[in-house]
Amino acid sequence: MCYLIEFGDFLSTDLKNTDNKQTIKPWEQLLELYPGLNEPIRESWNDPLSIRKIYMITPTKTRAEQIADLTRLAQTLYLVPNLFWIIIEDEIKPTQRIHRLLQSFHLPFVHLNIATPDYLKPTQNQSTWRRPRGMFQKNIALQWIRSNTNRNDDALVYFADDDNTYHWKLFQEIRKVQSVGVWPVGLVGELLYERPICLNGKVHSWFHFIYRKRKFPTDMAGFAIHLNLIHKYSNYIFNVSATSIGQQESQILDTMTTQDQLECLANNASKIYVWHTKTQIMFITAAHKLQKAGLTYDLISEL
Ligand code: UGA
Ligand code: MN
Repeated sequence: MCYLIEFGDFLSTDLKNTDNKQTIKPWEQLLELYPGLNEPIRESWNDPLSIRKIYMITPTKTRAEQIADLTRLAQTLYLVPNLFWIIIEDEIKPTQRIHRLLQSFHLPFVHLNIATPDYLKPTQNQSTWRRPRGMFQKNIALQWIRSNTNRNDDALVYFADDDNTYHWKLFQEIRKVQSVGVWPVGLVGELLYERPICLNGKVHSWFHFIYRKRKFPTDMAGFAIHLNLIHKYSNYIFNVSATSIGQQESQILDTMTTQDQLECLANNASKIYVWHTKTQIMFITAAHKLQKAGLTYDLISEL
């Protein structure tokens, strides 16, 4: 009380504002309260191209940071209309924890699963470079798409890993794709970005540093494919053999298109709307130490 009397004027306005805000329902007053949120939603949801559905394929590996990564991604997806999220867990069975998380987002989704065989997973000291990451999972998603969509539907397919960063404008670019579209990807290939170099909307060459004999030197996040092509090449699956790791993008593009046919998007590939970010691996070492000391560590629900 003493505090209130002393700083009466200042605090009463401050508290009044706080109280007022609590009575306002943000979703009814978005324009007034959060113009920065309202504008992207309005532009994105009013885009006439949003009648074209996006099937977004996200493999997801069990790890400590998984729920945090998926939460961040889901919150980007609220800005995107008409997107169907295909999430494939790298597990023998779909887990309750991921299922509950996905339900909590209220986004349209299907929850699938397949475990990467143990012998192909990197052991602790091995590099992940020659091991398939999310390949078995992407293949299950391709099968799901072929059995659950109509080959003549006008829709796009995009491979979106759970740890990348996506601008909502990327999804507007995806919807412009007629056959196969390409664009820059940030923070990849030991560069600030890799990108197609485009002339009048067509790919002239590629800007990249790492070559690895990639015919199409782009990351998986750097292209989207029309649904018709996924049906047309109905036997295509990602090759999980060691020699094919790192060639996945080139192999699918080489099967379904040619460099001449690629469509340059994101303002003639001059804008970055997706970044190949990587969540730092958190060392949850104290749990093990507690266990060793004979102490129990109660896992609380993450939701
Ligand atoms: C890069 C590309 O961005 C991937 O699209 C590509 O599949 C991969 O290289 C590759 O060439 O194999 P990177 O960031 O190195 O991806 O790999 P991660 O992010 O670790 O994994 C890609 C996706 O697969 C993630 O969504 C991850 O959750 C999932 N994943 C990873 C699994 O489902 N199982 C695994 O054992 C590892
Ligand atoms: Mn990644």
